[in-house]
Amino acid sequence: MSRISTGIEGLDEMLNGGLIPGRAYLVKGGPGAGKTTLAMHFLMDGVKKGEKCLYVSLEEPVSSLKEDMRNFGFDLENPNIKLVDATPVGEKRSIFADVFYEDFAVSFEKLTRAIIQELKAEKYSRVVIDPITMLKLTIKDELEYRRTFMSFLKVVASHGATVIFTSELAESDVEEYLVSGVIEMNVIEGRGKPLRGIKIRKFRGSSFDEETRPYKITDRGIVVYSRESIF
Ligand SMILES: Nc1ncnc2c1ncn2[C@@H]1O[C@H](COP(=O)(O)OP(=O)(O)OP(=O)(O)O)[C@@H](O)[C@H]1O
Ligand SMILES: [Mg+2]
Repeated sequence: MSRISTGIEGLDEMLNGGLIPGRAYLVKGGPGAGKTTLAMHFLMDGVKKGEKCLYVSLEEPVSSLKEDMRNFGFDLENPNIKLVDATPVGEKRSIFADVFYEDFAVSFEKLTRAIIQELKAEKYSRVVIDPITMLKLTIKDELEYRRTFMSFLKVVASHGATVIFTSELAESDVEEYLVSGVIEMNVIEGRGKPLRGIKIRKFRGSSFDEETRPYKITDRGIVVYSRESIF
């Protein structure tokens, strides 16, 4: 089966070679766990291979994102990556061609429609939506949320794009059931110093490493120690 690299060697090893392309995945973690960095590794791997990549930022302004990611050596000025700033602003601001923040980041359905428009116009192979948390709150009815989410996943799959959503740690995320895989990033309070651990909770269509593995955030980004144990 063909695989798509996450851009993180140790994580690819945990996934038995990488993600299965054309599917959607969820990366969960607490504040500062490294969700955005992980997602960016994934996109930069695509950029390096000449693929078109799309990143939609819902909480961190693109200007500060660029600054943060430059620390890891990620070049977000590359023309193969499109960054969409969908963070709240005071004034009316265009996000996609004719979609405005007011109509867009406040509605999950409008966001998914805008992304689908983008996918039709341009062949993106990798898409990141970071994070999904706020959008979820725009749909009160769980059944409606599931329907919207599932139809979005189907359209994305029909375009062949591989998608990563990020989200905060929460007990029962419906997305976990709907996506093809879930990766969780945790900070575990060890003896005096916090340990970072990464775990694959679910990966449809593949076997995977079920253990929590240590990871570090370094000047080069995330390093996953797939042969080490956290305990
Ligand atoms: N050079 C570095 N060395 C070690 N750690 C770093 C370095 N640069 C940034 N960090 C840490 O990496 C983390 C950045 O993670 P990132 O922004 O990807 O997390 P996140 O899970 O997306 O957070 P949020 O919930 O705020 O969106 C921060 O905790 C930061 O302190
Ligand atoms: Mg983030």
